[in-house]
Amino acid sequence: MKAWIVTEYGGPDVLDLREVEMPEPGDDEVRIRIHATTVSSGDWRIRGMNIPRGFKTVSRLMFGFSAPRSPILGSELSGRIDAVGRNVTGFAVGDAVFAYSDKDMGCHAEYKVLGADASIAPIPPALSFGEAAAMSFGGCTALEFLRRGRIETGHRVLINGASGAVGTAAVQLSRFFGAHVTGVCSSANADLVRSLGADEVVDYRTTDVSQSGETYDIIMDTAATLPYARAKHILAVDGTLLVVNGDAPSLLSAPFYSMSTKRRVIAGPVFGKPEDLEFLADLARDGDYRPVVDSWFDFEELPEAHRLVDSGRKRGNVVVRVMKSDPPPDKLD
Ligand SMILES: NC(=O)c1ccc[n+]([C@@H]2O[C@H](COP(=O)([O-])OP(=O)(O)OC[C@H]3O[C@@H](n4cnc5c(N)ncnc54)[C@H](OP(=O)(O)O)[C@@H]3O)[C@@H](O)[C@H]2O)c1
Repeated sequence: MKAWIVTEYGGPDVLDLREVEMPEPGDDEVRIRIHATTVSSGDWRIRGMNIPRGFKTVSRLMFGFSAPRSPILGSELSGRIDAVGRNVTGFAVGDAVFAYSDKDMGCHAEYKVLGADASIAPIPPALSFGEAAAMSFGGCTALEFLRRGRIETGHRVLINGASGAVGTAAVQLSRFFGAHVTGVCSSANADLVRSLGADEVVDYRTTDVSQSGETYDIIMDTAATLPYARAKHILAVDGTLLVVNGDAPSLLSAPFYSMSTKRRVIAGPVFGKPEDLEFLADLARDGDYRPVVDSWFDFEELPEAHRLVDSGRKRGNVVVRVMKSDPPPDKLD
């Protein structure tokens, strides 16, 4: 099969399209013929070792010293099951599914083998393969953080970086949970963020939201510009700061703030779970969640998709169409 291999840490030029061995599923595994995948900010982080301050050494230990130990990036996919192991009962050949391999990556390829108990779910009706591929990275991250923040109906929620993959999911999910949502993004993306359910939108280029005098029960920071020192001015007395994007000092100081104030600070990595994919699929089926797609690329153009993600300015998700025989992924297929 064909796969994009990362030969060393660096810019998009380190990506190389190669013929690699076809993976075979074990007894408890399924193999998926990939129709679409995404390039996420997670791929950007690992490909270039673009790691927040204080995490570089631990990241090299985790992912590999001079090149990623797992050279095929990509954590999201959609496609059809094309082979099942002998013990697998929950999936059959031909099932249309989406999946999240998370930190195990390996989705920038034509096929992916996953355990049958991994994060795999049927594609909900009304989503194309392209959209389904973009369900999980932002969706699972936003969902897990909002749950840790104990989001409730009527909460006032601020999403900083509301137009990115995590932000667009967080706005929709906060709205679904009955919160009053304020999104922070550039003015070019204000209409998009409003259309996803934000009650208010703040342009970070003209307004310092930390000096607004408002208070929020939950602040989610996906842009690393609202650390506790700034967020505390607008965080309710018993509110929660969700540090989705933060450096080592933010992570290490989180327990200190949580113990020494009535506010909670939650930081660190979160991981997708199979039941989260089912939850997001149910929301998508009911029209409460739809991944935002910025652009579509063909498989051969994957380095171009990386360049867009590297800009840090994508709107939602960047989808890569792996199977060319499919109709364009913005159409139902
Ligand atoms: N903790 C975890 O487990 C976890 C999981 C997933 C992701 N993450 C991290 O979360 C971060 C966000 O991921 P993503 O995929 O959503 O990124 P993304 O899609 O690249 O989105 C970034 C967004 O940030 C906005 N932005 C840029 N500068 C800003 C500023 N000064 N103030 C407010 N917004 C600003 C941009 O909006 P405009 O274009 O409108 O400026 C852009 O849409 C990444 O650093 C990623 O590594 C962490």
